[in-house]
Amino acid sequence: MEENVLFDPPAELSKNARIKSMDEYRALCKKAEDNYEGFWGDYAKEKITWKKPFDKVLDESKAPFYQWFVGGKLNVSEQCLDRHLETRKNKAAIIFEGELGDQKVLTYRELYYEVNKTANLLKNKFGIKKGDRVVIYLPMIPEAAVMMLACARIGAIHSIVFGGFSADALRDRVIDAQAKLVVTADGAYRRGKPYMLKPVVDEALTDECTSVEAVLIVQRNFEEIEYVSGRDYIYNELIKDQPVKCEAEVMDSEDPLFLLYTSGSTGKPKGVQHNSAGYILWAQMTMEWVFDVKENDTYWCTADVGWITGHTYIVYGPLAMGATTVMFEGVPVYPDPGRWWRMIEEYQVNQFYTAPTAIRLLHKVGNDEPAKYDLSSLKVLGTVGEPINPDAWLWYYNEIGGGKCPIVDTYWQTETGGHMITPLPGATPIKPASATFPLPGIIAEIMDEDGNPKPKNEKGLMCVTKPWPSMIRGIWGDPERFKESYFGTAKKNGQPVYFTGDGAIYDDDGYIVITGRTDDVINVSGHRMGTAEIEAAAGNHPHVAECAVVGKPDAIKGEGVFIYVVLKGEDNLAEEVDVMKEINQIIVKEIGPIAKADEIKFVPGLPKTRSGKIMRRILRAIAKGEEITQDISTLEDPSIVAKIQTCVLG
Ligand code: WTA
Repeated sequence: MEENVLFDPPAELSKNARIKSMDEYRALCKKAEDNYEGFWGDYAKEKITWKKPFDKVLDESKAPFYQWFVGGKLNVSEQCLDRHLETRKNKAAIIFEGELGDQKVLTYRELYYEVNKTANLLKNKFGIKKGDRVVIYLPMIPEAAVMMLACARIGAIHSIVFGGFSADALRDRVIDAQAKLVVTADGAYRRGKPYMLKPVVDEALTDECTSVEAVLIVQRNFEEIEYVSGRDYIYNELIKDQPVKCEAEVMDSEDPLFLLYTSGSTGKPKGVQHNSAGYILWAQMTMEWVFDVKENDTYWCTADVGWITGHTYIVYGPLAMGATTVMFEGVPVYPDPGRWWRMIEEYQVNQFYTAPTAIRLLHKVGNDEPAKYDLSSLKVLGTVGEPINPDAWLWYYNEIGGGKCPIVDTYWQTETGGHMITPLPGATPIKPASATFPLPGIIAEIMDEDGNPKPKNEKGLMCVTKPWPSMIRGIWGDPERFKESYFGTAKKNGQPVYFTGDGAIYDDDGYIVITGRTDDVINVSGHRMGTAEIEAAAGNHPHVAECAVVGKPDAIKGEGVFIYVVLKGEDNLAEEVDVMKEINQIIVKEIGPIAKADEIKFVPGLPKTRSGKIMRRILRAIAKGEEITQDISTLEDPSIVAKIQTCVLG
């Protein structure tokens, strides 16, 4: 079985890699274990251009509110731009390709000017100061990166909202973050046609959004939009007169850099907070170690800046290390499913980073498309966002990588800021569907709730038992939820430790295999969603008495959204089709099209324990069409299981 074979790193790649062998890897791990603070302190000194050196590596006194590089001063935009001007001023920082094939290259010098001008605009025109929140609702255009770095330059905290979120979802985030400014675009292009963003912002910004003073609009597709006078401003016009130098704000290591809202198992989305020094250090180090990008390489990550992968591995990581990063506005299948492969050939991409859902989609299209293009520039392939199945892995390895490119299956989360468990391309023998081992300095363990390590092939909790520099610093405005969500499940030596929410096993060779979420979070096409959020939306339909959402395995998307709905007593089932349609309309309105249900089933009741807790395990099994083998005697009404099965399976 090819699935159980280990693939060694290519000798040529290992020879020049930053980490060249498993021995080197183990030595680094040992170094970190022997002197944890020394390990991190040395890297922080080496990698970060400090305005003032830090006094202390790690302060654990307020655990789990850990502080890193205490007393240090820096500015993340300087780390990403200014320090490269001496040696890389004319190097491409961002290579942009639009959906329609338009191209734009920003050198480090040009990007530096754009960021400085934008920083001046934010500061002088909109009065944005250190600590103010700026919500960014932009398509995948270079201005998104410019805006992020401009915020960083003046010490403002950006919070990007993915363009696929609805007006309601955007409003919730604007209010939670108390944003002073919203940056958006008229719209952009998808599948060759213009689509609009500004109208969504107009709908989002109701009277409840009292914090918002202005809306800044980047013109991208130049379609007609409505202006609210005194609130709306055009970026393209205002930016012209701005001075090209803006003094970078002196930021503390622990000053917030950004918020990024993500889904949890309960309640509304949480604003994950990342701070300056620890985040940028790990973004840069993982870029260097995991993708092994060299000075003249071209690196491409296909994520959207609205997700953490876009933050760390399109913008901050690549720019901090001085790499050339490709940014693409569009989808992989427009105008044809060879688009990505053509771009790899055209830009001679060396490292390519994408998600399993896209790999599966393009795998399904077949081998003809990639075979048309010269993909020989590729050296390292990456995957992220959800477990990758061996089939998709092997296709990626053989057909895209030509059997010569290591795949880095990078396991991490919004909360971890950067990679946690992943192969190193020049060192780790890889196998399909395993994220392999924790990076040096990351103490990640599969254990039970009391900290006992799990033996091989037994599923346990994927935990991180020591703090690390790029870890989440808090949930915006909700310290209790932060403690409870991440440090409320597992302990080691009696001390609360970080639990990821994922299950995992050590396989026969001791390799880590991530098995997926153990909580009520589902992963649809790599988009992370809380079942509770979708349930809250669906529950707003007037005919819905109650409902339960589970993920159902899907060949392309990883998981699909499956909703069990109990209608109110006297409701007429003849209307079911309408109700189904309307439920999805509500979901699209309240969350966005990414959360739409793939299947909705009407059932007479939900399987509940006597204490009223819905047993989603049973619902997941029924959705999959599995036999129910687990004990259902603890259910309030065990006969409900057979009734639900009849409704689902017919
Ligand atoms: C899942 C995305 C298996 C996991 C960077 C995690 C993965 C969640 C992998 C975080 C991987 C991410 N293998 N599962 N390589 N990478 N996940 O916050 O369930 O959008 O908890 O961050 O994606 O999703 P998030």
